Amino acid sequence: MFDLTDRTALVTGAGQNIGSGIARALAAQGAIVHVNDIVAERAEAVAGSIRSAGDRAEAVPFDVTGIDAVAAAVDAIGAVDVLVNNAGNGGAGGMTLTPFHDLSPDAWSGIIDVNLYGVLNCCHAVLGGMVERGWGRIVTISSLAGTMGTRVGVTPYSAGKGGAMAFVRSLALENSRNGITANSIALGLMGTGTPTSLGDIARSIPAGRLGTPEDVGALCVYLSSDEASWVTAQTIHLDGGTSPT
Ligand SMILES: NC(=O)c1ccc[n+]([C@@H]2O[C@H](COP(=O)([O-])OP(=O)(O)OC[C@H]3O[C@@H](n4cnc5c(N)ncnc54)[C@H](O)[C@@H]3O)[C@@H](O)[C@H]2O)c1
Repeated sequence: MFDLTDRTALVTGAGQNIGSGIARALAAQGAIVHVNDIVAERAEAVAGSIRSAGDRAEAVPFDVTGIDAVAAAVDAIGAVDVLVNNAGNGGAGGMTLTPFHDLSPDAWSGIIDVNLYGVLNCCHAVLGGMVERGWGRIVTISSLAGTMGTRVGVTPYSAGKGGAMAFVRSLALENSRNGITANSIALGLMGTGTPTSLGDIARSIPAGRLGTPEDVGALCVYLSSDEASWVTAQTIHLDGGTSPT
């Protein structure tokens, strides 16, 4: 089950932490994984370590906010069967905990660029090929900040993540007869990049622990598989029981 042999995957922001876990999990199921990151050395290191494990991966550094760079990279890859939109900023790893009234427009547009426009750019680049081939899987990594909201000063991040989830749902419905599924994963607090100031929130997770890249990788494998063809237009909360719905 969940065999991804010879599927071509693109995972954005996969040079560390959650994205690298997703890339490793897809590659371990047989996918040829294109490891994207804005920092080329990170993408190359992760792709190299996947190859060292005997699986298939290539580094494809680019900035997801640049629509021309994204389109050129996807053209160079050829067919992308599985897109995982993981690149993000301004979440637990980069959060400033700044209240909205103290933020500048530059600060919020930079966050929304990556978390929302980055998703639109990558989906736009891969979608035509998926429609032509009649098969595709799109998984977008989101956050409870975009569904429940949080009290810790991440308003533009919430806007970017919430907008991306709304976009994904409509994209899924628009393509539901094209053999393409599109889903979002709303993550709770992860063990990667969580500031110690969030320790109290971390202790309140019902499952009693922070999430791991392996938790996310496993769900991405399922959502990328043939077996998940009836799962589309969903936001799946992966949060150790944190969210009420
Ligand atoms: N860590 C958490 O607690 C948490 C919680 C909820 C959601 N998330 C989401 O999960 C995803 C991964 O989080 P993480 O903690 O691994 O983040 P991270 O900051 O550790 O890694 C993100 C990677 O994305 C890359 N990146 C940033 N901007 C990019 C761009 N414009 N183009 C290409 N690559 C870019 C970075 O270089 C980095 O390697 C993000 O979308 C984040 O918002 C994280």
